[in-house]
Amino acid sequence: MKYNNKKLTIENINFQVLAKKFGTPAYCYSYSKLSDNINSFKENFKSFSPLICFSIKSNTNVNIIREIKKFGLGADVVSKGELMLALKAGVNPNKIVFSGVGKTNEEINFAIKKKILLINAESKSEIQEINNIAKRKKKIVQVGIRLNPNTDAKTLKQISTGKSENKFGVNSKTFYELVKYCKNSKNVSLQCLSVHIGSQILDHKPYERMLKAVSNIMSKTKHKFKFVDLGGGMGISYSNKNKKLNYKKYNSAIKNFLKKHNTKIIFEPGRSIIGNTGTLITKIIYIKDGGTKQFIILDSAMNDLMRPALYGAVHKILPVIKSNNISRNTYEFVGPICESTDKFVTLKKFQKLKEKDFLAICDVGAYGMSLSSNYNLRPKPVELLVKGRKIKIIKNRQKLTELI
Ligand code: LLP
Repeated sequence: MKYNNKKLTIENINFQVLAKKFGTPAYCYSYSKLSDNINSFKENFKSFSPLICFSIKSNTNVNIIREIKKFGLGADVVSKGELMLALKAGVNPNKIVFSGVGKTNEEINFAIKKKILLINAESKSEIQEINNIAKRKKKIVQVGIRLNPNTDAKTLKQISTGKSENKFGVNSKTFYELVKYCKNSKNVSLQCLSVHIGSQILDHKPYERMLKAVSNIMSKTKHKFKFVDLGGGMGISYSNKNKKLNYKKYNSAIKNFLKKHNTKIIFEPGRSIIGNTGTLITKIIYIKDGGTKQFIILDSAMNDLMRPALYGAVHKILPVIKSNNISRNTYEFVGPICESTDKFVTLKKFQKLKEKDFLAICDVGAYGMSLSSNYNLRPKPVELLVKGRKIKIIKNRQKLTELI
């Protein structure tokens, strides 16, 4: 995104034009950014050619997944719905991994039927359930076991998953038991050790610690794991102050790990692939004087973008038409929903705004639309994909008639 003659553009298409043509709020994705992200992700780890499974939960638009699939990526899914979506987008079942602590009997049955690469189990009961179902079907199912390495990801506590107090995976003691269980079971074939310690990780050190824990456990089990699935979690810069994850260091830690263990690496990135490709275009409905600050009341709200209300996440906001006229007021950008947490950000310095101006909320491609809801009975926004000169509606704005 850049300003051309003070007008904010995406791949040379003017946001103002998009807002007027398609209405607001609107999610808008950049194809060239998406392709850059995938190519640089591959480049970062090219020495060991990992299997990259895009984490569907970060963005569930079938057209986006179709584009991602064309780069040869697989999918990481956590429900029957996500699995159906990945298959609908044409993702090769042999590149699909299924994670999650509570896969139901129906979901396991479906995953077996579709012959996906791996079901990554997260408990003893789940492994037993998979084995029982496979037995009834007279099949041998490829499974992984998710280890909880008790590693602090040094990220927000709401999105940390690798500490012993988190519900995810199993501890090392249970892990050894489950390896044994798999060896003695006829209908599961243990192929993978999986981990995922959290999301929006910007420091490579937690990954190094995680690899150490995984390496120790693998050496002790002496089981031959065909795959090690390291999950996702690679963070992105939401503000100019955010540091960047040092991919070089993460890559060399994995290369060291691979010197000891001959295995194929799987990644499950979501945010690092799609996060910075998406923008939420919104319009100012009213500006209300709140005494010490002015409320900039937008037509998008916490139902369209939950991250600020849920995690205190801050997304950059840019004016669609830039001016040099700076306001003396503090602006609080809020939505119309009847909750005090329906607030995006408070800024002391911003250009002077007026009602009906358009704004762009940045880096919302991951966990933006996929976390959206119909709270306050608000229809979900339209989704657009900008690819060169083409603008494609990749999901229609929801109609109230679909909701009522
Ligand atoms: N694999 C597993 C098993 C996961 O649980 C997740 C994310 C990923 C991969 C992808 O992680 P990523 O590369 O996107 O960080 N809603 C939160 C993020 C929750 C992440 C949940 N799990 C947010 O908006 O920040």
